[in-house]
Amino acid sequence: MDKELSSIHYDEYLQLKKILDAQHLRSVGFNKPAHDEMLFIIVHQVYELWFKEILHDLGSVMELFSEGTVIESHIGVAISRLDRISKIQKILVDQIDIIETMTPLDFLDFRNYLLPASGFQSFQFRQLEVSLGLKRERRISYTQCSYSGVFSDKEQKILDELEKGDSMFDLVEKWLERTPFLQFEAFDFVEEYKKSVGLMLNREEQAIESADYISTQEKQLRINMMGETKTYFNSIFDEAIHDQKMKEGTLKLSYKATISALLINLYRDEPLLRQPFMFLQKLVDMDELLTTWRNRHAQMVLRTLGQKIGTGGSSGYDYLKTTADKHRVFYDLHNISTLLIPRSFLPELPKELKEKLDFNFSKDKS
Ligand code: HEM
Repeated sequence: MDKELSSIHYDEYLQLKKILDAQHLRSVGFNKPAHDEMLFIIVHQVYELWFKEILHDLGSVMELFSEGTVIESHIGVAISRLDRISKIQKILVDQIDIIETMTPLDFLDFRNYLLPASGFQSFQFRQLEVSLGLKRERRISYTQCSYSGVFSDKEQKILDELEKGDSMFDLVEKWLERTPFLQFEAFDFVEEYKKSVGLMLNREEQAIESADYISTQEKQLRINMMGETKTYFNSIFDEAIHDQKMKEGTLKLSYKATISALLINLYRDEPLLRQPFMFLQKLVDMDELLTTWRNRHAQMVLRTLGQKIGTGGSSGYDYLKTTADKHRVFYDLHNISTLLIPRSFLPELPKELKEKLDFNFSKDKS
């Protein structure tokens, strides 16, 4: 019989013997069985399985983006895979509800048997962070040791290699930098955008000045606040300001990539930019959901441990809470929203450029 057609049993295919024989309760080993240790082990194992699937999908997207040019149809594939990752992440967040059915006292029945095991030793979680683009120097340190010091030499080497290569962030940045249309014949996107922002801000200023329901003092306050918004826009008008912010570490995405992301976001309704826009949205979804997980996990840790230190040696809640904010990777993509202007102020695209951004299929037919 053809080897490919040979039959296999459900049990064998899923390697269930291995998986279902992988829950060894330490509390039972110490002759002090703790009922909830089973839940604790299973929840962690399920997480690790989902991490495996996420890495599998993310790795495939990174591969598609590693080519010099990204084929249009590959963007669709990338969107579907990132969408799947987000759906898995939602489950990862929801699973915290399950672990929270274990009360702090139930956890204390076996917590001492786990020492010094900790989520810090989740190799796949670190692989995920590094693959997304979290750099070693941006990590919150909790001891003098490197974050990877808890892993075997072989695993440390894998993380080192991963850090040296392009992360998802790097690949997206390069892809954005290659986006055409920023300068199309006489149409200079940044110059046109600058004019529109000027018009929009003038209109807003006039609206404040002519409002008869607020005091002169309040008007001045609001106009001063608009100054801060203008400062933010200035970094997009002036590459040198943007580069300075990158040096200071407040921005990570290169100037050219930021401008491209802005163009894609503003002209998302043009057929050819729809897919790139969806792709950027999916990255933002993924980043947001990881932050949601970090926050939710930190909150659960506070509820379970209070201010106790973690089994891995960190301050516990305080450390975890800080990572939620500081370990974000695609912060600059979220921030594009600051630069968006209403559709009514959008610079009109030249006819030839608009045609280029349209699907040519219907035109060929006529
Ligand atoms: C009762 C349940 C849990 C408690 C009390 C808990 C507690 C902690 C604490 C205190 C830390 C900080 C590191 C340390 O000092 O040990 C930590 C980190 C971590 N935990 Fe949990 N955890 C729980 C459940 C989970 C689950 C279900 C997962 C899923 C895989 C998980 C994954 C992680 C990861 C990946 C880290 C590292 C986070 C980072 O460094 O950004 N934890 N956990």
